[in-house]
Amino acid sequence: MIDSLAGENLISLETLSQTAMLEVLDHAELFAEVNSRTVRKVPTLKSRVVASLFFEESTRTRLSFETAAKRLSADVLSLAVASSSVKKGESLRDTIATIDALGIDAVILRHHSSGAASQVARFVPHVRVINAGDGQHQHPTQGLLDVFTVRQVLAERSGTNARESGSELFRGLHVLIVGDLRHSRVARSDAWAYSRLGAEVRVCGPGTLLPDDLSAWPVTLETNFDDALQWADVVGVLRLQKERGTGSLVPSLDEFTASFGMTKQRVQRLRSSTLITHPGPMNRGVEIDSWAADHANCLVERQVANGVAVRMAVLYLALSGARVEGEINE
Ligand code: CP
Repeated sequence: MIDSLAGENLISLETLSQTAMLEVLDHAELFAEVNSRTVRKVPTLKSRVVASLFFEESTRTRLSFETAAKRLSADVLSLAVASSSVKKGESLRDTIATIDALGIDAVILRHHSSGAASQVARFVPHVRVINAGDGQHQHPTQGLLDVFTVRQVLAERSGTNARESGSELFRGLHVLIVGDLRHSRVARSDAWAYSRLGAEVRVCGPGTLLPDDLSAWPVTLETNFDDALQWADVVGVLRLQKERGTGSLVPSLDEFTASFGMTKQRVQRLRSSTLITHPGPMNRGVEIDSWAADHANCLVERQVANGVAVRMAVLYLALSGARVEGEINE
């Protein structure tokens, strides 16, 4: 178990302790303050080199990681995989070795293969590896920004300070994760993030979109989605991953929406305090109705905005290995 991210890789939330998660969330609060300034830049990672390697499509993760690294004054090497020598058949190992030869301090890696981030960490043990989503395994920074956003909203509602509240606001919180659990690395990271911070996590989805084995997940399975919605304080809606063949695992998209979609009717039946999250990109009209996506309790845009501060915290901790607030405020 990792108790501090200082000087560590971030591969999975399953092995990150509550202390380490709170360390990231609390540093992200400081960076959120930096991001609200006129000059949104600190010299913390000046002269450090961060490589951004996305072997799979991404909009928000890639842009927010690169923004985060630049706001920390790091130099960013961004590999355009589609026009790189990967297309000529260069292996992941050789690609990493090539980039490492240029002199890098960290790699942000998104890859279609579960376990790719761990592999890269073994190839270049002197480089910090941040998993930006590997196959169906983990998307740790998404999990961290999701809990950061929920804690921020709960702190605002209760008039408390998010940093001072620690994990208190998660104690006994009811979190329901719904949809394509089989393919979702976000679900796997969210489940560990919420449960380790003290929330109770339940999951719900069509049988064909459940993992073969849920026994290692820190969750319980709900079979009645509409009952579970009444129980939930937070509903984490997952994207239906059509690119992973999910379309063939449900009778039809309309049927999926009718049974497990966050429709207008379902949102209208929620308690007024219930929060909705979605990692994006959204399939409007499939797992989430436009009316629900644009509802005041839907945090999707806030999640994206918070992604920068959370990723600044992760890069700062992983690369600096220091936890001195004064450095952030230089
Ligand atoms: N949530 C998420 O990972 O989005 P992107 O694929 O756009 O990065």
